[in-house]
Amino acid sequence: MKKLTIATMCAGLMLATSGAAFADGAATYKEACAACHVAGVAGAPKLGDKAAWGPRIEQGNDALYAAVLNGKGAMPPKGGRTDLSDDAIKAAVDYMVAQSK
Ligand code: HEC
Repeated sequence: MKKLTIATMCAGLMLATSGAAFADGAATYKEACAACHVAGVAGAPKLGDKAAWGPRIEQGNDALYAAVLNGKGAMPPKGGRTDLSDDAIKAAVDYMVAQSK
């Protein structure tokens, strides 16, 4: 219970400092994308790997959104989380791009 309270407070702080969409993107990333994108499963570009992300980021955000929404290579549409909204996916992409520049 105590942990939950602290987590809620941290989430509140994050919302206050970095904007709701960005905080949501980080949460979605951890929940839906990290499984592949932390370890580089099946050739997934790792979070923070500038060399892997550079050419992808150059395609522009719209191309990245489309790749995730429709699926690309070994990544299923929406990373397999078709229950998530398009906006939640886009926020997660924004978060990943911001962490990998
Ligand atoms: C099942 C593993 C898996 C999951 C889960 C997954 N990805 Fe990926 N992702 C990949 C792989 C593999 C690639 C490389 C695809 C390629 O270039 O062929 C990739 C590529 C990408 C790219 C680059 C696309 C491009 O055009 O170069 C983005 C952005 C991305 N993922 C975002 C996400 C987001 C956001 C989520 C969570 C909603 C997510 N991924 C979940 C495996 C995954």
